[in-house]
Amino acid sequence: MAAVRALLPRVRAVLRPPARGPALRAFASGANFEYIITEKKGKNGSVGLIRLNRPKVLNALCNGLIEEMNQALEAFEKDPTVGAIVLTGGDKAFAAGADIKEMKNQTLQDCYSSNFLSHWDRLTQVKKPVIAAVNGYALGGGCELAMMCDIIYAGEKAQFAQPEILIGTIPGAGGTQRLTRAVGKSLAMEMVLTGDRLSAQDAKQAGLVSKIFPVETLVEEAIQCAEKIASNSKIIVAIAKESVNAAFEMTLTEGNKLEKKLFYSTFATDDQKEGMTAFVEKRKANFKDQ
Ligand code: HXC
Repeated sequence: MAAVRALLPRVRAVLRPPARGPALRAFASGANFEYIITEKKGKNGSVGLIRLNRPKVLNALCNGLIEEMNQALEAFEKDPTVGAIVLTGGDKAFAAGADIKEMKNQTLQDCYSSNFLSHWDRLTQVKKPVIAAVNGYALGGGCELAMMCDIIYAGEKAQFAQPEILIGTIPGAGGTQRLTRAVGKSLAMEMVLTGDRLSAQDAKQAGLVSKIFPVETLVEEAIQCAEKIASNSKIIVAIAKESVNAAFEMTLTEGNKLEKKLFYSTFATDDQKEGMTAFVEKRKANFKDQ
């Protein structure tokens, strides 16, 4: 039981109203980002929307863009009114990969000494669910960014690929690992070794994306899904996300053990009491995220 109780403060810490740090101030004051656009969407502003916005270079993921995205994620993570986040790009490109012009002259020494690309991992540490809404190209780092999200929705013309092999390198932000777990060895290996693209339809069939929508309604559909998630208890949603993600890191026995502990931990929350009481009283639950 001690172990179970120990899990709750970690989740609560994220959901607690924020100390007003620099990132949140920047967001709250509507600071103009250079490479992204952020908005709050949905009824009560419960959905944080991040739109990658470097259309002239098909949202090539330069360092500045990743840093701004991290700031926005931080701000939405700390905002107690936000229950889920949508990450999207433009109609032609979600993102055409890491910025090749920016990285082409890097040396091995540069990569090691600067811990190159380590700041890309911030997205994987967000406790609130993140939905990728992918229209157009999701190539290289763009595909990797989408795969770091919890759910991928695709527009009908989306194309996914890991084409790094064509420019003399390999995926470096989880492409060989997450793609393999998502679609299996044969297809992942084929994509990584040839650079060939996967259509939205094939990506859905392979299990990489969960739903496909027309280009023009994709983002709205993702926002609706995020809003639905945000209407649930934030603390229970965070626990559920942690439990599903553990499936990628643990054996079945370890994962089932963790799930059980996390399940038990929900019984220490007011929202579990409220949810089950509301069911018995035949009314809608009124979650307080406690
Ligand atoms: C920098 C890029 C870019 C990229 C496109 N552009 N992708 N700039 N990095 N990844 C720029 C082009 O140079 C061009 O700018 C403008 O965007 C429009 O691109 P075009 O090629 O003219 O458009 P189009 O003919 O429609 O072709 C689209 C495309 C092609 C098929 C997506 O741009 C392409 O192949 N891009 C590279 C895809 C790729 O290899 N991605 C993986 C990157 S490596 P100018 O100024 O010339 O007009 C990677 C490693 C990740 O992601 C490692 C871990 C993070």
